[in-house]
Amino acid sequence: MSKLKIAVLISGGGTNLQALIDACKQPDYPAEIALVISNRTDAYGLKRAEEAHIPTKIINHKDFSSREKFDAQMDKEISSYGVELICLAGFMRLLSDEFVTKWFGKMINIHPSLLPAFKGADANSDAVAYGVKISGCTVHFVSTEMDSGPIILQRTVPVLNDDDRDALAARVLEQEHLAYPEAVRLIAEEKVVIDGYKTIIED
Ligand code: GRF
Repeated sequence: MSKLKIAVLISGGGTNLQALIDACKQPDYPAEIALVISNRTDAYGLKRAEEAHIPTKIINHKDFSSREKFDAQMDKEISSYGVELICLAGFMRLLSDEFVTKWFGKMINIHPSLLPAFKGADANSDAVAYGVKISGCTVHFVSTEMDSGPIILQRTVPVLNDDDRDALAARVLEQEHLAYPEAVRLIAEEKVVIDGYKTIIED
């Protein structure tokens, strides 16, 4: 069976990218990374991709006069690699409605909270500040509203009394590295059906 071709979009360290790279090395894993795109030249994730001999592209948003033009360039590259699923992995740019609508159902994101709680860039700080006792991560399809869209899977962690942002983030990140490859596997195996605002995961 042919493998699902994915593109991973990053802006930083790329530990979730690494988790996907490692999963894709397993012979029976049903997806392969066709392309890694970073909007930042200094993203460490680019090195991870190069070490794994995965094609990389740097598309710097500062080189474009609008979000739409930046997204159009990404779309051009992604399409030229025959990509079937886009995985946002610490990609710190909002995407235009046009791009999101075009890729709806074929673009996923991982977020370090149990959505819909704690959307935004400071999810772990916000979870600690709020005093929740359980947090975690969410993999979801991307919709036009930030950190929204049908949820594919979630994993939980306890929030401990003396946690600060970094301690919680490290615990959540361990679960992210399990959740993201698992979500991609479920999609590649065609077990994820979008049903309105929800997904149904088939056995
Ligand atoms: C992760 O916490 C992810 O949930 C969020 O950005 C972070 C990226 O980390 N969207 P990394 O670059 O994958 O290490």
